[in-house]
Amino acid sequence: MFSKYKKPAPKPAAAAPEEKVAELPKADAKAKIARKAPPAKPATVTPMDKERKRKERLGEIKLELHRALLDNLNLAALEHASEQDLRQEISAISSEVLTEKNIILNREDRQTLNQELFDEVTGLGPLETLLKDETVNDILVNGPQQIFVERAGKLELTDITFKDERHLLRIIDKIVSAVGRRVDESNPYVDARLQDGSRFNAMVPPIAVDGSLVSIRKFKKDKLGIDDLVNFGAFTEEMAAYLQAAVATRLNVIVSGGTGSGKTTTLNALSSFIDNAERILTIEDTAELQLQQTHVGRMESRPPNVEGKGEVSPRDCLKNALRMRPDRIIVGETRGEEVIDMLQAMNTGHDGSMTTIHANSARDGVSRLENMIAMAGIEMPIKAVRSQISSAVNLIVQASRLQDGSRRMTSITEITGMEGDVISMQEVFRFQRVGLTPDNKIIGHFTATGVRSHYSERFRLWGYDLPASIYEPVAAQ
Ligand SMILES: Nc1ncnc2c1ncn2[C@@H]1O[C@H](COP(=O)(O)OP(=O)(O)OP(=O)(O)O)[C@@H](O)[C@H]1O
Ligand SMILES: [Mg+2]
Repeated sequence: MFSKYKKPAPKPAAAAPEEKVAELPKADAKAKIARKAPPAKPATVTPMDKERKRKERLGEIKLELHRALLDNLNLAALEHASEQDLRQEISAISSEVLTEKNIILNREDRQTLNQELFDEVTGLGPLETLLKDETVNDILVNGPQQIFVERAGKLELTDITFKDERHLLRIIDKIVSAVGRRVDESNPYVDARLQDGSRFNAMVPPIAVDGSLVSIRKFKKDKLGIDDLVNFGAFTEEMAAYLQAAVATRLNVIVSGGTGSGKTTTLNALSSFIDNAERILTIEDTAELQLQQTHVGRMESRPPNVEGKGEVSPRDCLKNALRMRPDRIIVGETRGEEVIDMLQAMNTGHDGSMTTIHANSARDGVSRLENMIAMAGIEMPIKAVRSQISSAVNLIVQASRLQDGSRRMTSITEITGMEGDVISMQEVFRFQRVGLTPDNKIIGHFTATGVRSHYSERFRLWGYDLPASIYEPVAAQ
């Protein structure tokens, strides 16, 4: 029936030992349900319990069917199969096995099952539904039995699992080989961009102790724009107007923040204020930015290959970018020796350049820059380093992911020059936290600090005459 994709020499005799092995995954399936069940709700059970049992049964059937598929399908031949063909084959094998095992499923369950099997064979197995789920931002796998996702800023454990470590490894391998990379014991981690643009990182045993670790930052087709961010309460209209003036008048901006705090999103949104006539070059480890302008050249740095060759570092890209007549340079993240070239670019005619750094406050951001310069092996007195930083960077925008999962621009700070050995800064806007609601939501409001922008005259001269009122502090409600 499914001759085209059937393995050349099927061995029905192998079924007996396989049956024994089947015990293990069954236990897995139970473990997964056990974890998902809500803690201690002893009384009234019926509908939930029924649903749980149904899922448990489906999980077991899926495992059996999956094994049957792997036994029966010639995976190499599948590569050339059309989707329709493959769906037919899968549905044929699954109904055969279901009949054989005397299992009756309703239409909907059968469809779900066949879809899951299809995902398994063609796609990324258990990850496929999560990748398709628009509400999921991040997918984090800690070994085969634990998959977390981030939705609306909150991490949650899913009831999705891999069959075992081998299954997880197979999916990882599928992902990385599709983008021409390899991961194994001698090359145990990989950072890559998936075909759909998502960012992918994996680390496999023995470096990952309890099973492979995978993190996926999903690519969003529609990046959050300034208006979305204002609507979400990430910052205010006034701050947006200020940022527009800052970007349009070509201040050099650094977006600082912790992991997943919204740095790239902020950088992307800020870039929308750049005039369409300008030539912009972007440099990233993994191309995530989606600029709206027409004149954009995108670069992606490349790590060394397995033999340790072929690396094109962000610094290489940046050096080359400077020869490509850019008006502005945007570096996705500055984390190493490219800091030298970035600061130089900011100081020498590429005003309006932007980047992000990993830091928890504007002050901390400056220290990070100092450290990066020191690590790059540049022997310069600290005062000279600071003076370089203070004349290159005009603005530090702090992005934060707060404890309730919300992401906010917690501070906008201007660098105004040097006082002795110290870089002087002034905060112009900040998020003022007041407290927590009973359900742990942050209470607070954005406010100006009362200082007028150091750059207000520049803004005025460039035609961005912001009203003085935007610098007035907002009283707590
Ligand atoms: N203000 C916001 N409100 C809601 N979601 C947001 C907000 N800002 C960012 N996000 C979402 O949060 C996720 C992380 O954002 P982003 O990639 O910008 O963070 P990052 O700081 O660059 O992370 P990393 O440190 O991993 O590079 C994305 O899925 C993004 O869409
Ligand atoms: Mg980022």
